[in-house]
Amino acid sequence: MAGAQTRKKKRAARRRPDRHELYEQAVQCPEADIKFFERIYRNHNAGKLPGSLREDFCGTAALAAEWVRKRPTNKALGIDLDGPTLDWGRRRNVEPLGPAAERLTLLQKNVLAVTRPKCDVIAAMNFSYFIFKKREELRDYFRIARRSLAPGGVFILDIFGGSDSQAEEEEEKELDGFNYYWDQDRFDPVTHETLFYIHFLLDDGRWMRKAFTYDWRLWTIPEVREILAEAGFTHTEVYWEGTERSTGEGNGVFLKTSHQSSCPGWIAYIAATMGKS
Ligand SMILES: C[S@@+](CC[C@H](N)C(=O)[O-])C[C@H]1O[C@@H](n2cnc3c(N)ncnc32)[C@H](O)[C@@H]1O
Repeated sequence: MAGAQTRKKKRAARRRPDRHELYEQAVQCPEADIKFFERIYRNHNAGKLPGSLREDFCGTAALAAEWVRKRPTNKALGIDLDGPTLDWGRRRNVEPLGPAAERLTLLQKNVLAVTRPKCDVIAAMNFSYFIFKKREELRDYFRIARRSLAPGGVFILDIFGGSDSQAEEEEEKELDGFNYYWDQDRFDPVTHETLFYIHFLLDDGRWMRKAFTYDWRLWTIPEVREILAEAGFTHTEVYWEGTERSTGEGNGVFLKTSHQSSCPGWIAYIAATMGKS
């Protein structure tokens, strides 16, 4: 009996963690994103809090789940094309919410096919809109997002860049129980098309190579702002991350900016509204 239990324990320890579990730990911080969304929405709406969030390209819906968990009146809509990823998110992020889960809807659909219900905040995080490689496709998506905003609504995107983002190199991050690798396998300077991967190395030496693949176009801030304007947004703002003095790394604090000095690697948010320009 004791032997069977030990074997069971060993098997559990050797259980291959799910790639989504590792991704969420390595890449996402829904609490920080939501704090930022609320700050930006309040700035544009005389201090009023947003109530509804649409998470485009939601994947496991970690952000949408945190949104409804955070405030009892919050509602969220998550949209993603991939059924198995949504199912994983339902089990791991939505069901544990209990009754609050009723305020979260997940749709297995193309983001281009949904405009209702209108939401206060629409977010496309972790550069997911880079999937659209043609200007017209990106403009169509931005137009759909604009039509899906409630009055006073804010559309929020993140973006990364700098000379490092165009280098064919790999970045490693040590985390609890595993290492995360961001592998910029290919970057085409003519088209800005990229092929990037995420790999994981578990502490027991097992690899999870190409856990995620990103066949993207690396858009720039001015391009995205121009296309947002073409899609009918009247006002866009860029929020730039501050630097931690001791490490030279980003400090997680994003402030509105019009100009910045060159920097090898950066992440920023872009907020688009129908407010005054
Ligand atoms: C980079 S993941 C983003 C996951 C999560 N939102 C995050 O912030 O980390 C991109 C997701 O977009 C989904 N996707 C790609 N094209 C889509 C489309 N046209 N409509 C809806 N979902 C799409 C994929 O299935 C995938 O789950």
